[in-house]
Amino acid sequence: MIKQAIIPLAGLGTRLLPLSSVIPKELLPINGKPGLQYILDECIEAGIKEIIFIISVKKKMIRDYFYNDKFYKDIIQTKKDIRIKKEYKKIRKYKKMIKFVYQNKPLGTGDAVIRTKRYIKDKYFLMLLPDDLIINKNCSKSMIKLSKKYDSSIMASMKINKKDVSRWGIYELSKKIDKNNSFIKSVIEKPSIKKAPSDRAVIGRYVLSKKIFSKLKKQKPGKGGEIHITDAIQSLIKDNEKFIAHNFSGRYLDCGSMEGYIHSTREISKL
Ligand code: G1P
Repeated sequence: MIKQAIIPLAGLGTRLLPLSSVIPKELLPINGKPGLQYILDECIEAGIKEIIFIISVKKKMIRDYFYNDKFYKDIIQTKKDIRIKKEYKKIRKYKKMIKFVYQNKPLGTGDAVIRTKRYIKDKYFLMLLPDDLIINKNCSKSMIKLSKKYDSSIMASMKINKKDVSRWGIYELSKKIDKNNSFIKSVIEKPSIKKAPSDRAVIGRYVLSKKIFSKLKKQKPGKGGEIHITDAIQSLIKDNEKFIAHNFSGRYLDCGSMEGYIHSTREISKL
């Protein structure tokens, strides 16, 4: 079973300025709780037992938020507030599961992943990108199930508008497995419309095999001078490693841009 998840959190969040200038974007509230908590709850509900946060010195506030149980404990003793008591329990639960590693320079998602290498124990692990919220159905849970069934790496996929391909990793799919799942023939990071092999985009949920670490070690910087996880994945696919694109059935909400963040807060408050 997949028991470990990693969450890259060292990104600068420039698309959410000025909100993210002081507060890490992942702590911005969505209907009364930090966006990151939705991601954590998705992992935990999917059976994950240990979560590795990749943060930076600039985003130390994330560590402070989840390691702040004493502060709650002291308040409960004086106030006996039921709501705070409940939050205290949650924070304690999260604290027991979360480990931190640091990525102080924004060198890309691939560079973030390689920093977790010493912690990863099993053949497969889960990665969630916190800008991508998926509601109504637990995407991680479905992907973990699929990985077990096919003994394969899995990536979340969504049909997008062809004019937006340069914003995403884009798949070239091969054999269809069933209505929602296909094998991946190749994947390319943020191609031009001309070079895009399809209108199927990579969304931020990945079940990856440990083999990714040896690829990442050799990975040269790609688009924008960053080390992209997509490039390391493409290199594994070339070596005939099995990858499945999972067309998830939950609803996708973008929390990484200002427009998307505002929209997400509205949609989640309706649930
Ligand atoms: C990252 C990935 C990209 C993927 C996207 C999903 O891009 O590199 O392949 O499509 O997440 O949100 P970023 O959002 O970091 O630019």
